[in-house]
Amino acid sequence: MKRSYAYLLAAAGIVAAISGVAIAQQAATPAAAAPAAAAPAANAAAPAAAAPAAAFDIKSVEAMPVGIERGKAIAAGVCAACHMADGNSAVPLQPKLAGQHQAYIEKQLMDFKPAEGAKVAARENAVMGGQVAMLSADPKQYANDVKSLAMWFASQKLVPASSAGVNPTLGMSIYRGGIVSKGVPACAGCHSPTGAGIPNKYPRVSGQFADYSEAQLKAFREDQRKNSPANQMQDIAKKLTDTEIKAVADYMAGVR
Ligand code: HEC
Ligand code: HEC
Repeated sequence: MKRSYAYLLAAAGIVAAISGVAIAQQAATPAAAAPAAAAPAANAAAPAAAAPAAAFDIKSVEAMPVGIERGKAIAAGVCAACHMADGNSAVPLQPKLAGQHQAYIEKQLMDFKPAEGAKVAARENAVMGGQVAMLSADPKQYANDVKSLAMWFASQKLVPASSAGVNPTLGMSIYRGGIVSKGVPACAGCHSPTGAGIPNKYPRVSGQFADYSEAQLKAFREDQRKNSPANQMQDIAKKLTDTEIKAVADYMAGVR
Protein backbone atom coordinates (compact mmCIF):
# COMPACT_ATOMS: atom_id res chain seq x y z
CA MET A 1 0.00 0.00 0.00
CA LYS A 2 2.79 2.42 0.96
CA ARG A 3 4.59 1.69 -2.28
CA SER A 4 1.59 2.19 -4.51
CA TYR A 5 0.77 5.42 -2.74
CA ALA A 6 4.25 6.73 -3.40
CA TYR A 7 3.87 5.67 -7.01
CA LEU A 8 0.63 7.59 -7.32
CA LEU A 9 2.20 10.72 -5.93
CA ALA A 10 5.08 10.35 -8.35
CA ALA A 11 2.77 9.70 -11.28
CA ALA A 12 0.59 12.65 -10.37
CA GLY A 13 3.70 14.80 -10.13
CA ILE A 14 4.81 13.85 -13.61
CA VAL A 15 1.40 14.65 -15.02
CA ALA A 16 1.40 18.00 -13.24
CA ALA A 17 4.92 18.74 -14.44
CA ILE A 18 4.05 18.35 -18.12
CA SER A 19 1.15 20.75 -17.82
CA GLY A 20 2.17 24.37 -17.66
CA VAL A 21 -1.20 25.36 -16.32
CA ALA A 22 -0.89 22.85 -13.53
CA ILE A 23 2.51 24.20 -12.58
CA ALA A 24 1.10 27.67 -12.33
CA GLN A 25 -1.75 26.39 -10.20
CA GLN A 26 0.55 24.45 -7.91
CA ALA A 27 2.90 27.38 -7.54
CA ALA A 28 -0.02 29.59 -6.67
CA THR A 29 -1.37 27.24 -4.02
CA PRO A 30 1.50 25.46 -2.30
CA ALA A 31 -0.25 25.65 1.04
CA ALA A 32 -3.25 23.84 -0.38
CA ALA A 33 -1.64 21.12 -2.43
CA ALA A 34 1.35 20.11 -0.36
CA PRO A 35 -0.18 19.39 3.05
CA ALA A 36 -3.13 17.65 1.45
CA ALA A 37 -0.80 15.18 -0.24
CA ALA A 38 1.38 14.71 2.81
CA ALA A 39 -1.44 14.11 5.28
CA PRO A 40 -4.23 12.17 3.56
CA ALA A 41 -6.34 11.97 6.69
CA ALA A 42 -6.46 15.71 7.23
CA ASN A 43 -9.28 17.64 5.64
CA ALA A 44 -7.59 20.10 3.31
CA ALA A 45 -10.83 21.92 2.64
CA ALA A 46 -10.19 25.29 4.20
CA PRO A 47 -6.81 26.31 2.77
CA ALA A 48 -7.47 24.71 -0.60
CA ALA A 49 -10.83 26.39 -0.97
CA ALA A 50 -9.46 29.81 -0.11
CA ALA A 51 -6.39 29.87 -2.35
CA PRO A 52 -7.74 29.30 -5.89
CA ALA A 53 -10.60 31.73 -5.36
CA ALA A 54 -8.15 34.60 -5.22
CA ALA A 55 -6.14 33.44 -8.23
CA PHE A 56 -8.92 32.36 -10.57
CA ASP A 57 -11.88 34.33 -11.88
CA ILE A 58 -14.61 32.19 -13.42
CA LYS A 59 -15.57 35.15 -15.64
CA SER A 60 -12.34 34.52 -17.55
CA VAL A 61 -13.84 31.38 -19.14
CA GLU A 62 -17.42 32.47 -19.77
CA ALA A 63 -16.70 33.51 -23.34
CA MET A 64 -15.16 30.11 -24.13
CA PRO A 65 -17.37 27.55 -25.91
CA VAL A 66 -18.49 24.49 -23.96
CA GLY A 67 -15.75 21.89 -24.30
CA ILE A 68 -12.61 20.27 -23.02
CA GLU A 69 -10.51 23.46 -23.16
CA ARG A 70 -12.92 25.37 -20.94
CA GLY A 71 -13.05 22.42 -18.55
CA LYS A 72 -9.29 22.21 -18.47
CA ALA A 73 -8.99 25.89 -17.57
CA ILE A 74 -11.47 25.66 -14.70
CA ALA A 75 -9.92 22.42 -13.47
CA ALA A 76 -6.49 24.04 -13.32
CA GLY A 77 -7.88 27.12 -11.59
CA VAL A 78 -10.27 25.57 -9.09
CA CYS A 79 -10.25 21.76 -8.86
CA ALA A 80 -6.54 20.94 -9.11
CA ALA A 81 -5.81 21.70 -5.47
CA CYS A 82 -7.72 18.57 -4.41
CA HIS A 83 -8.35 16.40 -7.48
CA MET A 84 -5.15 17.33 -9.41
CA ALA A 85 -5.49 19.11 -12.74
CA ASP A 86 -6.03 15.83 -14.60
CA GLY A 87 -8.36 14.31 -11.99
CA ASN A 88 -5.86 11.81 -10.63
CA SER A 89 -6.14 12.89 -7.01
CA ALA A 90 -3.50 11.45 -4.69
CA VAL A 91 -5.56 11.91 -1.52
CA PRO A 92 -7.84 8.96 -0.64
CA LEU A 93 -10.85 11.00 0.51
CA GLN A 94 -10.68 13.27 -2.54
CA PRO A 95 -11.99 11.01 -5.31
CA LYS A 96 -10.29 10.35 -8.61
CA LEU A 97 -12.24 11.94 -11.43
CA ALA A 98 -10.00 10.94 -14.36
CA GLY A 99 -11.78 8.61 -16.75
CA GLN A 100 -15.09 8.80 -14.86
CA HIS A 101 -18.14 8.91 -17.13
CA GLN A 102 -19.07 12.36 -18.35
CA ALA A 103 -22.77 12.05 -17.53
CA TYR A 104 -22.03 10.90 -13.98
CA ILE A 105 -19.65 13.81 -13.29
CA GLU A 106 -22.20 16.22 -14.72
CA LYS A 107 -24.95 14.84 -12.52
CA GLN A 108 -22.83 15.08 -9.39
CA LEU A 109 -21.85 18.69 -10.12
CA MET A 110 -25.51 19.59 -10.65
CA ASP A 111 -26.40 17.73 -7.43
CA PHE A 112 -23.77 19.51 -5.30
CA LYS A 113 -25.49 22.86 -5.93
CA PRO A 114 -28.98 23.54 -4.57
CA ALA A 115 -31.45 23.75 -7.46
CA GLU A 116 -33.11 27.12 -7.96
CA GLY A 117 -35.51 27.74 -5.10
CA ALA A 118 -34.24 24.73 -3.10
CA LYS A 119 -32.56 25.18 0.29
CA VAL A 120 -30.42 22.05 0.22
CA ALA A 121 -28.47 20.34 -2.50
CA ALA A 122 -29.43 16.87 -3.72
CA ARG A 123 -25.93 15.76 -2.69
CA GLU A 124 -25.09 17.74 0.41
CA ASN A 125 -21.36 18.12 0.96
CA ALA A 126 -19.74 21.08 2.67
CA VAL A 127 -16.46 20.88 0.73
CA MET A 128 -17.91 20.45 -2.76
CA GLY A 129 -20.77 22.83 -1.99
CA GLY A 130 -18.14 25.52 -1.45
CA GLN A 131 -16.37 24.58 -4.66
CA VAL A 132 -19.38 24.70 -6.98
CA ALA A 133 -20.30 28.07 -5.48
CA MET A 134 -17.13 29.38 -7.18
CA LEU A 135 -18.42 28.44 -10.64
CA SER A 136 -20.68 30.73 -12.69
CA ALA A 137 -23.72 32.01 -10.80
CA ASP A 138 -25.87 32.24 -13.93
CA PRO A 139 -27.62 28.82 -14.32
CA LYS A 140 -26.92 28.58 -18.06
CA GLN A 141 -23.26 29.43 -17.64
CA TYR A 142 -23.11 27.05 -14.67
CA ALA A 143 -24.41 24.22 -16.86
CA ASN A 144 -21.74 25.13 -19.42
CA ASP A 145 -19.01 25.03 -16.74
CA VAL A 146 -20.26 21.68 -15.50
CA LYS A 147 -20.45 20.11 -18.93
CA SER A 148 -16.98 21.37 -19.81
CA LEU A 149 -15.50 20.05 -16.56
CA ALA A 150 -17.16 16.67 -17.06
CA MET A 151 -15.80 16.47 -20.62
CA TRP A 152 -12.29 17.34 -19.42
CA PHE A 153 -12.10 14.86 -16.55
CA ALA A 154 -13.82 12.07 -18.54
CA SER A 155 -11.17 12.47 -21.24
CA GLN A 156 -8.25 12.04 -18.82
CA LYS A 157 -6.51 8.73 -18.26
CA LEU A 158 -7.10 7.18 -14.85
CA VAL A 159 -4.05 6.29 -12.77
CA PRO A 160 -5.92 3.67 -10.75
CA ALA A 161 -5.69 3.09 -7.01
CA SER A 162 -5.05 -0.47 -5.93
CA SER A 163 -6.44 -2.95 -3.43
CA ALA A 164 -4.75 -3.39 -0.06
CA GLY A 165 -6.03 -6.97 0.13
CA VAL A 166 -8.34 -6.31 3.10
CA ASN A 167 -10.59 -9.36 2.58
CA PRO A 168 -10.45 -10.30 -1.11
CA THR A 169 -12.66 -13.39 -0.76
CA LEU A 170 -15.50 -11.50 0.91
CA GLY A 171 -15.03 -8.44 -1.29
CA MET A 172 -15.11 -10.41 -4.53
CA SER A 173 -18.06 -12.51 -3.42
CA ILE A 174 -20.17 -9.43 -2.62
CA TYR A 175 -19.07 -7.60 -5.76
CA ARG A 176 -19.75 -10.47 -8.13
CA GLY A 177 -22.65 -12.24 -6.43
CA GLY A 178 -24.15 -9.88 -3.84
CA ILE A 179 -25.35 -11.34 -0.54
CA VAL A 180 -28.32 -13.52 -1.44
CA SER A 181 -29.49 -14.13 2.15
CA LYS A 182 -29.84 -10.36 2.74
CA GLY A 183 -31.19 -9.43 -0.67
CA VAL A 184 -28.06 -7.49 -1.63
CA PRO A 185 -27.70 -7.49 -5.43
CA ALA A 186 -24.38 -8.06 -7.17
CA CYS A 187 -22.52 -4.78 -7.57
CA ALA A 188 -21.23 -6.09 -10.90
CA GLY A 189 -24.81 -6.12 -12.22
CA CYS A 190 -24.74 -2.32 -12.45
CA HIS A 191 -21.09 -1.31 -12.08
CA SER A 192 -20.01 -4.09 -14.50
CA PRO A 193 -17.71 -7.04 -13.73
CA THR A 194 -14.57 -4.94 -14.34
CA GLY A 195 -15.85 -1.97 -12.33
CA ALA A 196 -15.88 0.21 -15.45
CA GLY A 197 -19.55 1.04 -14.93
CA ILE A 198 -21.93 1.85 -17.77
CA PRO A 199 -21.73 5.31 -19.39
CA ASN A 200 -24.84 7.45 -18.76
CA LYS A 201 -26.09 5.03 -16.10
CA TYR A 202 -23.64 3.67 -13.55
CA PRO A 203 -20.35 5.21 -12.38
CA ARG A 204 -16.96 3.58 -12.70
CA VAL A 205 -15.83 2.21 -9.33
CA SER A 206 -12.68 0.42 -10.51
CA GLY A 207 -9.45 2.08 -9.39
CA GLN A 208 -11.21 4.50 -7.04
CA PHE A 209 -9.67 4.92 -3.58
CA ALA A 210 -11.05 2.34 -1.14
CA ASP A 211 -11.33 4.98 1.58
CA TYR A 212 -13.52 7.16 -0.64
CA SER A 213 -15.78 4.27 -1.72
CA GLU A 214 -16.10 3.15 1.90
CA ALA A 215 -17.07 6.69 2.96
CA GLN A 216 -19.69 6.89 0.19
CA LEU A 217 -21.24 3.53 1.08
CA LYS A 218 -21.51 4.64 4.71
CA ALA A 219 -22.95 8.00 3.64
CA PHE A 220 -25.60 6.21 1.54
CA ARG A 221 -26.32 3.90 4.46
CA GLU A 222 -26.77 6.76 6.96
CA ASP A 223 -28.81 8.83 4.45
CA GLN A 224 -26.11 11.51 4.38
CA ARG A 225 -25.85 11.02 0.62
CA LYS A 226 -29.32 10.74 -0.87
CA ASN A 227 -28.87 11.42 -4.58
CA SER A 228 -28.93 7.90 -5.97
CA PRO A 229 -31.87 7.59 -8.40
CA ALA A 230 -34.78 5.63 -6.87
CA ASN A 231 -32.71 5.26 -3.67
CA GLN A 232 -30.86 2.35 -5.28
CA MET A 233 -27.58 2.83 -3.44
CA GLN A 234 -29.18 3.83 -0.13
CA ASP A 235 -31.28 0.64 -0.11
CA ILE A 236 -28.25 -1.52 -0.90
CA ALA A 237 -25.92 0.14 1.62
CA LYS A 238 -28.44 -0.18 4.45
CA LYS A 239 -28.03 -3.95 4.23
CA LEU A 240 -24.22 -3.88 4.54
CA THR A 241 -22.14 -4.13 7.72
CA ASP A 242 -18.94 -2.13 8.25
CA THR A 243 -16.89 -5.27 7.56
CA GLU A 244 -18.70 -5.94 4.29
CA ILE A 245 -18.35 -2.31 3.18
CA LYS A 246 -14.61 -2.30 3.90
CA ALA A 247 -14.09 -5.55 2.00
CA VAL A 248 -16.07 -4.57 -1.10
CA ALA A 249 -14.63 -1.02 -1.19
CA ASP A 250 -11.12 -2.45 -1.13
CA TYR A 251 -12.01 -5.00 -3.81
CA MET A 252 -13.35 -2.27 -6.10
CA ALA A 253 -10.09 -0.30 -5.83
CA GLY A 254 -8.30 -3.28 -7.39
CA VAL A 255 -10.88 -4.78 -9.75
CA ARG A 256 -10.09 -4.32 -13.46
C1 HEC B 1 -11.01 21.53 -1.28
C2 HEC B 1 -10.88 20.27 -1.96
C3 HEC B 1 -11.70 20.11 -3.25
C4 HEC B 1 -11.71 20.93 -4.36
C5 HEC B 1 -10.91 22.20 -4.59
C6 HEC B 1 -12.62 20.31 -5.29
N1 HEC B 1 -13.12 19.15 -4.77
FE1 HEC B 1 -14.38 17.86 -5.70
N2 HEC B 1 -14.44 16.70 -4.03
C7 HEC B 1 -13.75 16.95 -2.87
C8 HEC B 1 -14.13 15.97 -1.87
C9 HEC B 1 -13.60 15.87 -0.45
C10 HEC B 1 -15.10 15.13 -2.48
C11 HEC B 1 -15.84 13.95 -1.84
C12 HEC B 1 -17.15 14.47 -1.27
C13 HEC B 1 -17.89 13.38 -0.51
O1 HEC B 1 -17.30 12.82 0.41
O2 HEC B 1 -19.04 13.10 -0.85
C14 HEC B 1 -15.26 15.61 -3.84
C15 HEC B 1 -16.12 15.04 -4.77
C16 HEC B 1 -16.24 15.46 -6.08
C17 HEC B 1 -17.04 14.80 -7.08
C18 HEC B 1 -17.87 13.54 -6.91
C19 HEC B 1 -17.06 12.37 -7.41
C20 HEC B 1 -17.79 11.06 -7.37
O3 HEC B 1 -17.16 10.03 -7.69
O4 HEC B 1 -18.98 11.02 -7.02
C21 HEC B 1 -16.91 15.51 -8.24
C22 HEC B 1 -17.55 15.22 -9.57
C23 HEC B 1 -16.01 16.62 -7.95
N3 HEC B 1 -15.62 16.55 -6.63
C24 HEC B 1 -15.64 17.57 -8.88
C25 HEC B 1 -14.89 18.70 -8.58
C26 HEC B 1 -14.67 19.77 -9.51
C27 HEC B 1 -15.16 19.81 -10.94
C28 HEC B 1 -13.93 20.72 -8.84
C29 HEC B 1 -13.49 22.07 -9.36
C30 HEC B 1 -14.56 22.92 -9.86
C31 HEC B 1 -13.69 20.21 -7.50
N4 HEC B 1 -14.30 18.99 -7.37
C32 HEC B 1 -12.95 20.86 -6.53
C33 HEC B 1 -12.82 17.95 -2.67
C34 HEC B 1 -12.58 18.99 -3.53
C1 HEC C 1 -29.19 -1.30 -9.42
C2 HEC C 1 -27.93 -0.75 -9.84
C3 HEC C 1 -26.81 -0.71 -8.78
C4 HEC C 1 -26.32 -1.75 -8.05
C5 HEC C 1 -26.79 -3.21 -8.01
C6 HEC C 1 -25.21 -1.21 -7.29
N1 HEC C 1 -25.04 0.12 -7.56
FE1 HEC C 1 -23.63 1.36 -6.78
N2 HEC C 1 -24.43 2.95 -7.80
C7 HEC C 1 -25.53 2.87 -8.64
C8 HEC C 1 -25.83 4.21 -9.11
C9 HEC C 1 -26.96 4.58 -10.05
C10 HEC C 1 -24.87 5.09 -8.54
C11 HEC C 1 -24.76 6.61 -8.76
C12 HEC C 1 -25.72 7.35 -7.90
C13 HEC C 1 -25.74 8.82 -8.22
O1 HEC C 1 -26.22 9.18 -9.31
O2 HEC C 1 -25.27 9.61 -7.43
C14 HEC C 1 -24.01 4.25 -7.72
C15 HEC C 1 -22.96 4.74 -6.97
C16 HEC C 1 -22.11 3.95 -6.20
C17 HEC C 1 -20.97 4.44 -5.48
C18 HEC C 1 -20.49 5.88 -5.42
C19 HEC C 1 -19.52 6.13 -6.54
C20 HEC C 1 -18.86 7.48 -6.47
O3 HEC C 1 -17.97 7.73 -7.29
O4 HEC C 1 -19.20 8.28 -5.59
C21 HEC C 1 -20.38 3.37 -4.86
C22 HEC C 1 -19.15 3.38 -3.99
C23 HEC C 1 -21.17 2.21 -5.20
N3 HEC C 1 -22.22 2.59 -6.01
C24 HEC C 1 -20.91 0.92 -4.74
C25 HEC C 1 -21.73 -0.18 -4.97
C26 HEC C 1 -21.54 -1.48 -4.35
C27 HEC C 1 -20.42 -1.83 -3.39
C28 HEC C 1 -22.54 -2.28 -4.80
C29 HEC C 1 -22.82 -3.73 -4.43
C30 HEC C 1 -22.96 -4.03 -3.01
C31 HEC C 1 -23.35 -1.48 -5.71
N4 HEC C 1 -22.83 -0.21 -5.78
C32 HEC C 1 -24.46 -1.94 -6.39
C33 HEC C 1 -26.21 1.74 -8.99
C34 HEC C 1 -26.01 0.47 -8.46
